Amino acid sequence: KILILDFGSQVTQLIARRVREAHVYCEVHPCDVSSEWVRAYAADGRLKGIILSGSHASVYEVDDRAPDAVFELGVPVLGICYGMQTMAQQLGGKVQGSNVREFGYAEVRARGHTALLKDIADFHTPEGHGMLKVWMSHGDKVVELPPGFKLMASTDACPIAGMADETRRFYGVQFHPEVTHTVQGRAILERFVLDICGATPDWIMRDHIEEAVQAIRAQVGDEEVLLGLSGGVDSSVAAALIHRAIGEQLTCVFVDHGLLRLNEADMVMDMFAGKLHAKVIRVDASDLFLRELAGVTDPEAKRKIIGRLFVDVFKAEAEKLKAARPGSKGIQWLAQGTIYPDVIESGGAKSKKAVTIKSHHNVGGLPEQLGLKLLEPLRDLFKDEVRELGVALGLPHDMVYRHPFPGPGLGVRILGEVKKEYADLLRRADAIFIEELRSTIEPHSGKPWYDLVSQAFAVFLPVKSVGVMGDGRTYDYVVALRAVQTSDFMTADWAELPYSLLKRVSSRIINEVRGINRVTYDVSSKPPATIEWE
Ligand code: XMP
Repeated sequence: KILILDFGSQVTQLIARRVREAHVYCEVHPCDVSSEWVRAYAADGRLKGIILSGSHASVYEVDDRAPDAVFELGVPVLGICYGMQTMAQQLGGKVQGSNVREFGYAEVRARGHTALLKDIADFHTPEGHGMLKVWMSHGDKVVELPPGFKLMASTDACPIAGMADETRRFYGVQFHPEVTHTVQGRAILERFVLDICGATPDWIMRDHIEEAVQAIRAQVGDEEVLLGLSGGVDSSVAAALIHRAIGEQLTCVFVDHGLLRLNEADMVMDMFAGKLHAKVIRVDASDLFLRELAGVTDPEAKRKIIGRLFVDVFKAEAEKLKAARPGSKGIQWLAQGTIYPDVIESGGAKSKKAVTIKSHHNVGGLPEQLGLKLLEPLRDLFKDEVRELGVALGLPHDMVYRHPFPGPGLGVRILGEVKKEYADLLRRADAIFIEELRSTIEPHSGKPWYDLVSQAFAVFLPVKSVGVMGDGRTYDYVVALRAVQTSDFMTADWAELPYSLLKRVSSRIINEVRGINRVTYDVSSKPPATIEWE
């Protein structure tokens, strides 16, 4: 196993992710653990190496240092950014503060043929030096190597951008190998954990399940947990995992707001109550939602209403459940499918003065209001890891690899006022579009179009246009199809779906969904358009 000591950088979890991608088991712990703790952690003989993360602070602002035991156990140590600086300072080198920050792309020249960087390069200088394209973010820098260390890498702005003591197998890099902007970052971290530390690449998702299950049991004990199941990937995987850990102690509440996709509620119930035998309470609140949404056309107002009602309904259920078992310890925990990008986003959001483009619906604040403790078993995982975990837990592939679906559901895909009639038409049109995307194979990749786009859906436009069907005139609604490709949902391109596919979808919708007589395809990218229409 590899121990990662976290000095508070925003990207520490990325180190863990890269190590896990190399199939090596690792754990992230705060940097202020004691030396005794580190020795005890290593006592089983499984510890193969230690990585010291970066920090958002400077060595002059904080006095965080690695526990001395880190450098006394005889295992390799890699310091990244602040981790390298504290290593240098603790081992007798010198770090200089600076008010000039080096931030972003840099080219680093590898030096001294170290085991860490040997034969790893993006390109070579005419003199034959290996060069690395890396990502830097630091103000302070090491200006004097500690005794026993040699220079491993440098840039113009940062002459000591890497250092190594190959006898003790201590390495430091000023750049961030864990971020993807450092092209060879993965190779460097793999080199460290596999070759230098000699860790065995035998960690797989199944092991993670076992660890996570143990951790949930230890955390929850004999108390009960409540989870809001939305049918989305994250809450579904969290539910399956917690159910695996504590079975009957978990109760899921599934609020059907009437703005779900076709058959979605039944599918979720069938999976969790039917197949997994989990306790799921289905609350049919569609009348309430539709009633409260009647007459409301403003998108933000709609979102707020849906968000508020969702919380109200969920809270009422939670309180009923808490009251139902007087005397017993009752429900003490609220579980959420928070994943690592959510953690970063909310941490980052505090410092940024972001303009609200759309108020995303979430249930933040609920645990305090309900007096419940928060259980978030997916907090350290990235989306693709969550999916892998879901499959390993036995959830169906189609459910786990579904496109994202916004919390307010069809509420933001029916433009203007939401009506049941509109939702019913939209559900059917959307289902046809998705069905065709799933069944049409793109010949070059051999994959269905559904897997080649990041998100696809239909949007209901409450305008009527004239058409002709058989001998008669029609005067019916319009549906827009939207399919986008994106890696982070911050920017997106409209997908160049084949005309033949669009043609089939359009003719099926118009023929099968009475009430819709026109289909259009949305060819706007984000920005300036957003992915959803509202
Ligand atoms: P936009 O429309 O902002 O969407 O380009 C970006 C991504 O976010 C999803 N989305 C939401 N998800 N609650 C959610 O949980 C919301 O209120 C919400 N609004 C948009 C959208 O589907 C896309 O994946």
